Amino acid sequence: MAEDILDLKGRVALVTGAGQGVGRQIALHLGGHGAEGVVVNDVRLERAEEVAKEVQALGSRALAVAADVTDRESVDEMVARGSREFGTIDVLVNNAGNMGADPSKLERKPFWDASPAAWDAFLGVNLYGVLNCTSAVIPGMIEGHAGGRLITVISDAGRVGEANLEIYSAAKAGAAGFMRAVARSLGRHDITANCVAIATTRTPTMAGVTENEELAKRVLKNYTIRRFGEPSDVANMVLFLASEAASWITGQTYPVNGGFSFSM
Ligand SMILES: NC(=O)c1ccc[n+]([C@@H]2O[C@H](COP(=O)([O-])OP(=O)(O)OC[C@H]3O[C@@H](n4cnc5c(N)ncnc54)[C@H](O)[C@@H]3O)[C@@H](O)[C@H]2O)c1
Repeated sequence: MAEDILDLKGRVALVTGAGQGVGRQIALHLGGHGAEGVVVNDVRLERAEEVAKEVQALGSRALAVAADVTDRESVDEMVARGSREFGTIDVLVNNAGNMGADPSKLERKPFWDASPAAWDAFLGVNLYGVLNCTSAVIPGMIEGHAGGRLITVISDAGRVGEANLEIYSAAKAGAAGFMRAVARSLGRHDITANCVAIATTRTPTMAGVTENEELAKRVLKNYTIRRFGEPSDVANMVLFLASEAASWITGQTYPVNGGFSFSM
């Protein structure tokens, strides 16, 4: 039988914002492909616990940890707990993010009329969250001498820019710039750093768009492949980047977007 190039045997992953949507599916994909353990993070403990049970049902060990990725102290504690439980953390998936209160409300206050305090909601989780979690796992990866994978879920908004989502776009683009720089500084430790840039994907948070027939029809006109993404479309790419098959790929951003950003 051919070798399974996506097998994560012996690897331990931490997935942020994994209590639902894309992050949940990433945790299930990594657990289902033989990861030794998965730290399932969410700011909502009950969500993380549910997903950790699902990961365990696939035969992988899992630890649910409630932590807000914007809080460096909580992040450090989470990484320490995960490392104690599983011995190491080899794969970090920065997935936690937010697009604001209700993504189906297309009319927003122009960013130039919003206060910098309102910008913080976007910058906090989408940028500082990535800086916090990445900084927290790197020392262990370097000391472990076993390489590592840093994967950040950004948005096509951060890759090509999106009207009405300027601050969110800035936060996601910032995270991508950070990943590219980290790829340069840590390559010599066999640590890779990449991003996956996604477009509208069917998750509970996006239901106001994806499950609204009229709005969905309008939005889908911008997609070459006329359907929204599924969490598994994203998780497939993350699994590949986490695997040995992607060991010579670093500093890149991969669009997983149904052709959204070149069809406009
Ligand atoms: N779904 C889409 O259409 C879409 C499009 C572009 C980019 N993205 C990005 O993909 C990622 C996942 O999106 P989703 O739609 O699955 O999100 P979601 O809102 O459905 O789920 C996010 C999860 O993260 C958790 N979370 C939020 N803030 C957190 C924090 N500070 N610390 C820890 N956990 C936190 C939430 O409790 C939730 O369970 C995000 O980074 C998002 O910006 C999503």
